[in-house]
Amino acid sequence: MALQDVLREIEKEAKTRFLPIIGPEKGEVLVKIIKKYKPERILEVGTCVGYSAILMSRDLPKTGNIVTIEIDPEVARTAQENIIKARAHKKIEIVIGDAIDAIPTLEGPFDLLFLDAAKDKYLNYLKQAESKLSPDAVVVADNAGVFAWEMRNYLRYVRKSGRYKSTTYDLGFDALEVSKKLFT
Ligand SMILES: C[S@@+](CC[C@H](N)C(=O)[O-])C[C@H]1O[C@@H](n2cnc3c(N)ncnc32)[C@H](O)[C@@H]1O
Repeated sequence: MALQDVLREIEKEAKTRFLPIIGPEKGEVLVKIIKKYKPERILEVGTCVGYSAILMSRDLPKTGNIVTIEIDPEVARTAQENIIKARAHKKIEIVIGDAIDAIPTLEGPFDLLFLDAAKDKYLNYLKQAESKLSPDAVVVADNAGVFAWEMRNYLRYVRKSGRYKSTTYDLGFDALEVSKKLFT
């Protein structure tokens, strides 16, 4: 199946099964970020059924890859099926487990970190991954609008720590926080 058709199929399914995928509008912003920063290696926290991983894989270079972490093995199985359907399996590796335990076992560097799992754990995920980020990495956090309160310690950190230049992409119904690592 064409990658685009798999994405459309997941979007339809997400509506009926209420799957918390990033969706086409915020997905478009994510794609723009991928095109702008051209990451080779991506770490995603929160795979769900593989929508955002498949979407991000489309614009990766041939040598690029995505490691995506999912805590729920059933959901990860569906993601793997979707990834194979989209013929993106050579670029995407799913790690099953709690991201807090999984991140320290991964080998960096990662050029882009996409956070989309438990909102009150974003700062923990980032702290675990920080030493594995490349010097000019970019960190994208979903739900910076609807879950801004749950993510407040994360948002304070990326906006005020001096380690990132952070920008909020507000789409009205929700927002993405995009934080470019500063050379320190
Ligand atoms: C919002 S969904 C991810 C959506 C996906 N990024 C997309 O846009 O297609 C969040 C996912 O994170 C997973 N999750 C929650 N806590 C987690 C954790 N501690 N480690 C890994 N995955 C986790 C959930 O099971 C769920 O599938």
